[in-house]
Amino acid sequence: MSVIRTVVAGVGSYLPARVVTNDDMSKIVDTTDEWIVERTGIHQRHIAAEGEMTSHLALAAAREAIADAGIDVQEIDTIILATTTPDYTFPATATTVQAELGLHHGAAFDVQAVCSGFVYALTIADTFVKTGQSKVALVIGAETFSRLLDWTDRTTCVLFGDGAGAVVVRGETGEGTNADRGILTAHLHSDGRYKDKLYVDGGPSSTQSTGHVRMEGREVFRHAVVNIAEAINESLEATGLKADDIDWFVPHQANKRILDGTARRIGLPPEKVVMTVGEQGNTSAASVPLALDKAVKDGRIKKNDLVLLEAMGGGFTWGSLLFRF
Ligand code: ACO
Repeated sequence: MSVIRTVVAGVGSYLPARVVTNDDMSKIVDTTDEWIVERTGIHQRHIAAEGEMTSHLALAAAREAIADAGIDVQEIDTIILATTTPDYTFPATATTVQAELGLHHGAAFDVQAVCSGFVYALTIADTFVKTGQSKVALVIGAETFSRLLDWTDRTTCVLFGDGAGAVVVRGETGEGTNADRGILTAHLHSDGRYKDKLYVDGGPSSTQSTGHVRMEGREVFRHAVVNIAEAINESLEATGLKADDIDWFVPHQANKRILDGTARRIGLPPEKVVMTVGEQGNTSAASVPLALDKAVKDGRIKKNDLVLLEAMGGGFTWGSLLFRF
């Protein structure tokens, strides 16, 4: 049976030039390299320069993905940008990217699902492509998360970084089997009962200010391992595939301990896990496409490999997506 599959045609990424090490962090808050590495696996993070905004990061990643896909930019009819740190409250940062790319047609909008944003955005793009709403979509995860940090709170400020990743996806005809290239299945979840476990204490409607990240780290950790494993099992059950079939696991990069725990739970060996949290920290919606781009560029992920994405973030929101590259 012939079906439309949403195929990843190009990948790109961008990291701000400035690197902040754990030793640098220890000059800002009462922390040590040893504590951060042991609890999180993070060694350093990239932080955007003054005046460098989310749209700048997004645009750089998008340009790379468009070049990698080898398409004419005018073929793009949809831009979906996942971010928690838009340039402005409105308009959507996606429209700034659209204008900078010289596009005046199609639709551009932001998606807000915090760290799960890219998995949400890619799932929306898949639905658009499969229903004929879109032929070629640009999906971006971009964050200047450092702007939301309380730089006096050592329990949160050491965890996050800035960056952007992007993919170009397009509809291609498949056979309707797991051997098809493209997105095979996707599963999204949220549960607003936990919204106060990880949130930003400001916003236009509540405080008329931006606010800072607040988090109950242990609670987030506990839910993350369980929710992520459940969402992954959903993807496997929906396709009838097994953990052994997965070539690469490209998870949201929150914390090395969460990733190790998740991989163990679903029975994936560590060498199949793409890990960037050590060099980049948690870049929220940017972390999955940044990790994907790295593993494609360094030759690990090859055409036809089966790739599993997952993410979990504030809300809580979480989800998984399985695709053949
Ligand atoms: N440096 C030194 N000490 C610290 C630091 C720091 N940066 N941060 C906290 N501590 C101290 C605490 O004050 C506490 O001290 P106390 O015992 O004297 O009170 C001690 O270390 C232990 O603190 P815990 O919060 O219990 O430490 P824990 O082992 O839970 O690790 C961490 C904290 C790393 C935040 C962990 O809970 C975690 O990773 N949680 C997941 C959160 C996460 O990844 N969030 C990202 C967003 S959500 C997502 O992306 C999935």
